[in-house]
Amino acid sequence: MRSPAGARAPSLRSFARVCALLCSFAHVCVPDSAEGRQPEPPRADKLLVLTVATKETDGFLRFMQSADYFNYTVKVLGMSEEWKGGNGDNIGGGQKVRLLKEAMETLADQEDLVILSVDSYDVIFAGGPEELLKKFQQSNHKVLFAAEGLIWPDKRLADKYPSVRSGKRFLNSGGIIGYAPYINKIVQQWNLHENDDDQLFYTKIYLDPLQRERLNVTLDHKCQIFQNLKGAVDEVLLKFGNERVRVRNTVYDTLPVVIHGNGNTKLYLNYLGNYIPNTWNYEHGCGVCDKDILDLSHFPEYPSVTVGVFIEQPTPFLPEFLERLLTLDYPKNKLSIFVHNNEVYHEKHLQRFWEENKNVFKSFKVVGPEENLSQGEARNMGMDSCRMDEGCDFYFSIDADVMLSNRQTLKLLIEQNRKIISPLVSRHSKLWSNFWGALSLDGYYARSEDYVDIVQGKRVGVWNIPYMAHIYLIKGETLRNELKERNYFVLEKLDPDMALCRNTREQTVQREKGAPSPETFHMLRPPKGVFMYVTNRHDFGRLISTANYNTSHYNNDLWQIFENPVDWKEKYIHPNYTRIFTENLTEQPCPDVFWFPVFSEKACDELVEEMENYGLWSGGRHKDKRISGGYENVPTDDIHMSQINFEKEWLHFIREYISPVTLKVFSGYYTKGYALLNFVVKYSPERQPALRPHHDTSTFTINIALNNKGSDFQGGGCRFHRYNCSIESPRKGWSFMHPGRLTHLHEGLPTTNGTRYIAVSFIDP
Ligand SMILES: *[C@@H]1O[C@H](CO)[C@@H](O)[C@H](O)[C@H]1NC(C)=O
Ligand SMILES: *[C@@H]1O[C@H](CO)[C@@H](O)[C@H](O)[C@H]1NC(C)=O
Ligand SMILES: *[C@@H]1O[C@H](CO)[C@@H](O)[C@H](O)[C@H]1NC(C)=O
Ligand SMILES: *[C@@H]1O[C@H](CO)[C@@H](O)[C@H](O)[C@H]1NC(C)=O
Ligand SMILES: *[C@@H]1O[C@H](CO)[C@@H](O)[C@H](O)[C@H]1NC(C)=O
Ligand SMILES: *[C@@H]1O[C@H](CO)[C@@H](O)[C@H](O)[C@H]1NC(C)=O
Ligand SMILES: *[C@@H]1O[C@H](CO)[C@@H](O)[C@H](O)[C@H]1NC(C)=O
Ligand SMILES: *[C@@H]1O[C@H](CO)[C@@H](O)[C@H](O)[C@H]1NC(C)=O
Repeated sequence: MRSPAGARAPSLRSFARVCALLCSFAHVCVPDSAEGRQPEPPRADKLLVLTVATKETDGFLRFMQSADYFNYTVKVLGMSEEWKGGNGDNIGGGQKVRLLKEAMETLADQEDLVILSVDSYDVIFAGGPEELLKKFQQSNHKVLFAAEGLIWPDKRLADKYPSVRSGKRFLNSGGIIGYAPYINKIVQQWNLHENDDDQLFYTKIYLDPLQRERLNVTLDHKCQIFQNLKGAVDEVLLKFGNERVRVRNTVYDTLPVVIHGNGNTKLYLNYLGNYIPNTWNYEHGCGVCDKDILDLSHFPEYPSVTVGVFIEQPTPFLPEFLERLLTLDYPKNKLSIFVHNNEVYHEKHLQRFWEENKNVFKSFKVVGPEENLSQGEARNMGMDSCRMDEGCDFYFSIDADVMLSNRQTLKLLIEQNRKIISPLVSRHSKLWSNFWGALSLDGYYARSEDYVDIVQGKRVGVWNIPYMAHIYLIKGETLRNELKERNYFVLEKLDPDMALCRNTREQTVQREKGAPSPETFHMLRPPKGVFMYVTNRHDFGRLISTANYNTSHYNNDLWQIFENPVDWKEKYIHPNYTRIFTENLTEQPCPDVFWFPVFSEKACDELVEEMENYGLWSGGRHKDKRISGGYENVPTDDIHMSQINFEKEWLHFIREYISPVTLKVFSGYYTKGYALLNFVVKYSPERQPALRPHHDTSTFTINIALNNKGSDFQGGGCRFHRYNCSIESPRKGWSFMHPGRLTHLHEGLPTTNGTRYIAVSFIDP
């Protein structure tokens, strides 16, 4: 058996210390200084793990996975039995003892058999059978119970407990290890009801001095074997080894074998379970990610998916979002689309998309703002449409602020084969993402130790987390079983995502008014709690920001250069722009006149639309109160960027996208992008067809063609007199860049038909 380097030695050392301590006041150990004389511990094949589980919950599967990893032999008791051990109040667990009692009847006569009885829904193994047996043997008792620092369920019994100088004093029934005949003698005493308390039952035996001695029972005071997390979260840390990860109890310096997330520590156990025993470590990364993977290429046909799309607020780049549904690499006839659109503003976008694509998908349903649904109601409706449809294999919920750049996303999520899984998406170059690694005490965001590493992809895997939002995939069968109650999105005053996550992770059904918190309830009742995972095994996409989205312009996304720079670039910058730098994609049609692609078709079209929508063209008059001095020597028919409140954004565009080109072509000239005059010019034969030769008040000028010669206008172009050089075929989206004064006297050539638009900036005047 491989063991983590350095893990065993310290635990033995500390064990020796504990033993010495126990001996000094508890009169239980026979000190045995010569280790060699210790009898050999029982062999691993003499260990049987018994656990009670009535359902194969996610927690149960995790327990079994850790047991399989260490080759434990596990017998599961009670599977498919109805759970009767408690009805939502705090007392329960009798069913568990009864099942153990029945099981022990056939095992009682095997004197050398060691029984480990543990819970399963909230337990993970962190060490293997040999280590467990060795530690058990070193305890020098026939039966060992887990210990905890808090007394339960009867505080009045505290006085009866033997005192311990150091270590946890009280019995916890979630973990018992002992020789079969002794365990049998204990559980045979059970004659109570299914919903009586198991812990109280064991406690009474332990507190009886006669029984304690006769049955040779003690507690694992220092967590050599059992680590209960309740009240002890601050005592434990992850300890990373080369092969596996352990939990270290820092108070007793022990490496416990059985980790039990009792009480309200389930989420913390989930966090530990993301590492122990082999889920993730630094050397090998994710150890379980490829377990139980589905391979869709082996399926006769792809699963049917209902896609719930939620447009709950004005959202930038919505047309692009909708287009991405089309580019998902998944058969469209397997996708039923349910859209909730809460915004009148977006109706035109949806309408256009629907008209062009209504027959692409299996079905396409839109619930619009006129329905006046709350967000919770809308999300319920979407989820229900999958839940109620037996043919719906998966429900894929996605909010309009998720830009999925990975076309394989849906396939990859299905193949990961979890009940609930969300792809990690985060705000570009920010730590803001769609999951939380931990919860604060009041149920809101708390940063887990690993959150930043996961968001930044320094730890890659599939992570069990307490909260996710914006995008997730849920199995249809999970909606029809574990999550079959409805209205998961409405809970107290929580926002709908928080309500869903709390409903999903909570272990018990709604508690009665005034009843104690279900978190303290002994966990055997099959929890509804379904694990939620987030995967960062691939790049899936990003979250866009919906903040500061001003929808009072004509083309509002143009203004998003600050808030959503990546999406802005994708939409508005020419696809070949970056080749200027990688392949020197600039041309020089006249001396020191550089020509390069910068705007996309959409940028050109939307800017022209924006100006025409504004409509107050200057008319090309000399008198111009928009400029200082009020007089323009060489006037054009134009609208300034400042008139449509686009000045800040335009200057930012110059800094981001023009400055790097300047630096390249005027080798080393660095512009801070200072420009007073930024405007769109309109040339047409009827109004102003051309512009007489002139210099610009700039160090250099950019001049971007916003439409196409031939289809939109005839004529046009620019002539530089000094070089007798003309450029007569402007290209839409391409910019000229030339010095403004002295050498580059130039004129605008006449537009002979149609309308020509250009965007101009005089930079560094
Ligand atoms: C479990 O058993 C398998 C097969 O016998 C073996 O390869 C593996 O190393 C064992 N695992 C551990 C943790 O001992
Ligand atoms: C418990 O059993 C061990 C042998 O397994 C024995 O050495 C020890 O004295 C016993 N302790 C008590 C309190 O009976
Ligand atoms: C929409 O619903 C809200 C809350 O349910 C209600 O206050 C409001 O009057 C409704 N508006 C319309 C137009 O029906
Ligand atoms: C939104 O844009 C309009 C039109 O340019 C402008 O008048 C208004 O001040 C802007 N609102 C905000 C909050 O910036
Ligand atoms: C980008 O460059 C490639 C290769 O020169 C060309 O085929 C393509 O049309 C260009 N893209 C656009 C949008 O002009
Ligand atoms: C890049 O292209 C420009 C314009 O065509 C040309 O003047 C320059 O020499 C080229 N530079 C390199 C390094 O090829
Ligand atoms: C300018 O170039 C044109 C041809 O491109 C030529 O016909 C003309 O003579 C030139 N003018 C001068 C002044 O060189
Ligand atoms: C001018 O443009 C219009 C359409 O934009 C076209 O119908 C017409 O033929 C063009 N005239 C000439 C002389 O090219």
